[in-house]
Amino acid sequence: MNVHAAALAKGYPFDEATSAFAGDVIGDLGRHPKRLSPKYFYDAAGSELFEQITVLPEYYPTRTELGILRDRGREIAALIPDGAALVEFGAGATTKVRLLLEHCEFGAYVPVDISGDFLNAQADGLRKDFCDLDIHPVAADFTTPFALPEAVAGLPKVGFFPGSTLGNFEPHEAAAFLRSARKILGRRAQMIIGVDLEKDERVLYDAYNDAAGVTARFNLNVLVRINRELGGNFDLSAFTHRSIYNRDHHRIEMHLISRKAQTVRILGNSFAFRPGESIHTENSYKYSLERFTALARGAGWTVRDTWTDAARMFSVHALAASD
Ligand code: AVI
Repeated sequence: MNVHAAALAKGYPFDEATSAFAGDVIGDLGRHPKRLSPKYFYDAAGSELFEQITVLPEYYPTRTELGILRDRGREIAALIPDGAALVEFGAGATTKVRLLLEHCEFGAYVPVDISGDFLNAQADGLRKDFCDLDIHPVAADFTTPFALPEAVAGLPKVGFFPGSTLGNFEPHEAAAFLRSARKILGRRAQMIIGVDLEKDERVLYDAYNDAAGVTARFNLNVLVRINRELGGNFDLSAFTHRSIYNRDHHRIEMHLISRKAQTVRILGNSFAFRPGESIHTENSYKYSLERFTALARGAGWTVRDTWTDAARMFSVHALAASD
């Protein structure tokens, strides 16, 4: 029985998104080693847990990037032509974009996110504080090509991609995203991007193994989601969260480790686990300034300027499209 038929037989509503989720989960748990895509962390509960992560004492990236944007906002804004359209890839909480909007006379703001409802709520919030700003939300998956609104056709474009989300892409995906962004934004485009840096391994380890266990709940939530949306029977107490730093690949890896031999069923499929077997759920790549510059160059961008915090934990880059 295919996943669709199995879902319907169990009475699960099967829209396009759930069908894609089921296909990915069943395919990825059937691989050796098992894995799950990090994009499935972000249901309502996962997004809320991620917000909690961003304010944990151990999780330095969010507050460090905010500090850079706050302290260097004027310098960053000075590089941006007046009247430009600011295109934010994956519009999260609006805290970061506000730091740019405060210093620049943008001609328009184009937040791009897969969730239309979320986008509209964010846009309404911004309209209250920036009443002259023209906002054109685009509901799209920003990792694939999409069209910009006609209203910004004649304006210079500036991409904005904060949060070091680039680090959750495999290096070839990161290059493909930067190439695609350059194409979408067009000639003479610019881009402001936040990138997490390589650092002391203990600091990295602690940021992804916080004492309060929020990251563990965030990681395990993907199993909760599979149980709820796909009728899986994961026993949450039989899996444990583990984050390690993989020095060879310059990345934090998140895993869910099976505590015992067990079999999990999802939509008519069985997945056997050995004790200690892992589901690899996320990579978070950490860059050196040199490796990021080379990645950007290979994808058609020149690094114009770079700002870091005093401890060089995090970096914000201004990129210009190479001719
Ligand atoms: C969204 N992203 C940049 C986070 C990161 O640090 O890679 C996701 C995350 N995973 C565990 N903690 C935070």
